[in-house]
Amino acid sequence: MDRILVRPNGPLTGEVTISGAKNSALLLMAATLLAPGEHVLTNVPRITDVATMTELLGAIGVESERDATTVVLRSPASLLPEAPYELVARMRASIGVLGPLLARCGEARVAVPGGDDFGSRPIDMHLSGLEALGAKFELEHGYVRGWADGLRGAPVTLEFPSVGATENILMAAVLAKGSTVIENAAREPEISDLADLLNAMGAHIEGAGTSTIEVEGVETLHATKHETIPDRVEAATFLAAVAVTGGDVLLRNARADDMEMYLRKLADMGMTVTPTLEGVWSRGPERLRSVDVSTLPYPGVATDYKPLFTVMLAVADGVGIVTENLFAGRFRYVDELIRMGADVRTDAHHAVVRGRTRLSGAPVRAPDIRAGAALVVAGLVAEGETEVSGVEHIDRGYEDFVGKLAALGAHIERIST
Ligand code: EPU
Repeated sequence: MDRILVRPNGPLTGEVTISGAKNSALLLMAATLLAPGEHVLTNVPRITDVATMTELLGAIGVESERDATTVVLRSPASLLPEAPYELVARMRASIGVLGPLLARCGEARVAVPGGDDFGSRPIDMHLSGLEALGAKFELEHGYVRGWADGLRGAPVTLEFPSVGATENILMAAVLAKGSTVIENAAREPEISDLADLLNAMGAHIEGAGTSTIEVEGVETLHATKHETIPDRVEAATFLAAVAVTGGDVLLRNARADDMEMYLRKLADMGMTVTPTLEGVWSRGPERLRSVDVSTLPYPGVATDYKPLFTVMLAVADGVGIVTENLFAGRFRYVDELIRMGADVRTDAHHAVVRGRTRLSGAPVRAPDIRAGAALVVAGLVAEGETEVSGVEHIDRGYEDFVGKLAALGAHIERIST
């Protein structure tokens, strides 16, 4: 199993290019199931979740090839509408094939994703939204089997603006007969990216990026070419690394508009962040100031940024309270940070972080993608050596994380044993 070794080496400086967004790319890939033909997606990150989605689409019948950043997906005339447990268990986003398969094939059999490191993550809103469009579901042997004798557009009001449910319902609605209105829809930039692709494929969607999405169903869609938006969570991760090291870095391709609330919080902490023509330029202060942070659906502070805040607050001046409102179990990395000398107390969905002037390098384990990246960021300013295991989690969502940090001057290496 690979590990990442990291030591402090002063402020990060230079330029880093932000890759395409994982959470966009995965759903854009799933959306190609909606139309036969040759789909071309550009700016697709080289990460293992993309490899897993490629494997899943392959099992469904889609051939693919990729070069550095482009993925070509050939969706055949007939598909095998099934997502096996082995792949869904590896990556929850696999549930994103459910809507497209139902819309295109009229049936689907998809393994039910279990809980994960964030705690329980149900799919009830995905199913009830698709049911509103006329799909029927049955749970059998750990799989949800769905079928629809022609989907029909309908009003759908989500109980909570779930990203995955909005995406699944949207992808089903584009081929449903008549109009669908999704109320309380998720507003994440990845939803707008998906809607842009679907519209380029011939769909009629309005309002993506707002809480009300209107879809007028069409008979068929066609393959097209589409560029994935940049990854706001990868950008946020590098900004946190600049923040804790007091660095000075240009994040090429990063989009300030997609992380407005995060940037506002960073400014409150004393960072300078300026949108430029090339991306976002950032400079960290001598020492960060503490702030309180509460995660919320977009445009609120994303839950994915939370471990980064906890690390920044661990070395900031003052006390900050971090509140998690989306995933009950998303504080598991805190014990690892405490092993590095951080002063963090958790109580239910709150964490109180008292900033310290120093952290101390230690062997730690990445419990999930974002927490893993945050532990590496902590290692950039922890005295001595930090050894992060569980690197396979980081690989799921970060393209060449070690290489990019090393190019900014970090003392970091990846070792295999
Ligand atoms: N929820 C339900 N029922 C549902 C769907 C969701 O109760 O049918 C709950 C979830 O349990 C959670 C909340 O609603 O408490 C929000 O979940 P959401 O559906 O919005 O999340 P998701 O679509 O499963 C995506 C990202 C996550 C990101 C969340 C929140 C992808 C592939 N994943 O997950 O990204 O944390 O939105 O913004 O887009 C990551 O990249 O590391 C990651 C976990």
